[in-house]
Amino acid sequence: MKTLIKNGRVITAVDDYYGDILIDGETISMIGKELTMEVDKTIDAKGKLVIPGGIDAHTHMDMPFGGTTSADDFQTGTLAAAHGGTTTIVDFAIQQKGQSILEALDIWHQKAADKTAIDYSFHMIVTDLPHERTGELKQLINNEGVTSFKLFMAYPGVLLVDDATIYRAMSLASDHGAMVCMHAENGVVINEIIDQALKAGKTAPKYHALTRPTKAEAEGVFRAIALAEMAGSPVYIVHLSCYDALKRVQEARDLGVPAFAETCPQYLFLDYTCYEKEGFEGAKYVMTPALRDKWNQDELWTGLRMNDLQVVSTDHCPFCFKDQKQLGKDDFSKIPNGGPGVENRMSLIYNGGVVQNRISINRFVEITSTNPAKLFGLFPKKGTIAVGSDADIVIFDPEKKVTISAKTHHMNVDYSCYEGFEVQGVAETVLSRGKVVVENGKYTGKAGDGRYIKRSTIDVKHGRPSEIRRETALSRS
Ligand code: URP
Ligand code: ZN
Ligand code: ZN
Repeated sequence: MKTLIKNGRVITAVDDYYGDILIDGETISMIGKELTMEVDKTIDAKGKLVIPGGIDAHTHMDMPFGGTTSADDFQTGTLAAAHGGTTTIVDFAIQQKGQSILEALDIWHQKAADKTAIDYSFHMIVTDLPHERTGELKQLINNEGVTSFKLFMAYPGVLLVDDATIYRAMSLASDHGAMVCMHAENGVVINEIIDQALKAGKTAPKYHALTRPTKAEAEGVFRAIALAEMAGSPVYIVHLSCYDALKRVQEARDLGVPAFAETCPQYLFLDYTCYEKEGFEGAKYVMTPALRDKWNQDELWTGLRMNDLQVVSTDHCPFCFKDQKQLGKDDFSKIPNGGPGVENRMSLIYNGGVVQNRISINRFVEITSTNPAKLFGLFPKKGTIAVGSDADIVIFDPEKKVTISAKTHHMNVDYSCYEGFEVQGVAETVLSRGKVVVENGKYTGKAGDGRYIKRSTIDVKHGRPSEIRRETALSRS
């Protein structure tokens, strides 16, 4: 199958030009001006942007958590992602305490196999790493294409691991070219604060935020980076939410430490006041870290502009308001933590970033696609538009406006955190490895189109990270 995308404005992290793209099978085979060869399908992209498919490096499909399971499985969640212009997700498999890590990976393979609309890969959440298990991590890296792990400083008794385990995983990552992703929050102290609040009868959703101070996140970030320095490994801070935590990353990067971080749309567009909505509404926004005071948002945008933050992921972890968030009706600490967003990321960041003049159009592509590809071993197969790369391409209408609503979204969840938000910039047609899976906003793919992607190892110590140091962003802005 040959497809020609004509007349579009092609944007990558570094390019901005008008041209035509020839796709032969699953990959891009030629880029040029006014290409005229015979093809099976022609897409006219006049007036549209042609961008690399989005890569969401942080999703939780079909995830057992907080006494229930996230509402999107791999079928509904990836279909929604495709509608939003995301063509690859990196989801989190979870090792239960005492479980074989390879067995855990198997379970996640079963959850996703033959279900997805787009390509997918896995990070591994490691909850238990005695010395005898380190061989399994090496197998993940060398044979299974799982080249990143997430460790938790939060959720004591469930996912939290101690500093020795973190150091052990980082040392191994350093030796074998893997990345440690860190949920950086001092969960032990947070639990103490939660206990105090509950004893004082403070049970409403807003106490989720009031018991998770920004200092607890900043302390976690500082400790994660210090442990990574001791282990000689890079570290990637997930879902960074506030200026207190961002400062710790900035300080480290100014010293040349390979510390990387993502933020998420919820921290760029939503704030603490969401918890003060009437009744139990605030439960919709119970996610971890919590939403912060609004002034933090400007700091996060500055972090994105200055390259102290390299990625925007969603941390998509939806729970229905009606059936699932209610678990915490009388106790905020029992509200399942997480919110939906995989479908909205590209439009929200384009609108808030490019339309509202906070970042360049190239930076938009870089933080939503190219950097996650580079940091997680997917580049240049994914994350760019180049000859030989997978034809994961989005025809993006930069003028079209839509109003986000649970009534029209494709995520399997009964509310939207962004209900009523008007955004400019919409994924119109989406190709996943050359196949059109969304055409003019309509799904044309099928479950199982997506493929598991084994990721390569990651050399961020001596190679690629220098490309994404602060100076490069500074010289662009
Ligand atoms: O509230 C959140 N973020 N839920 C998902 C689990 C995690 O910590 O990423
Ligand atoms: Zn987390
Ligand atoms: Zn998460």
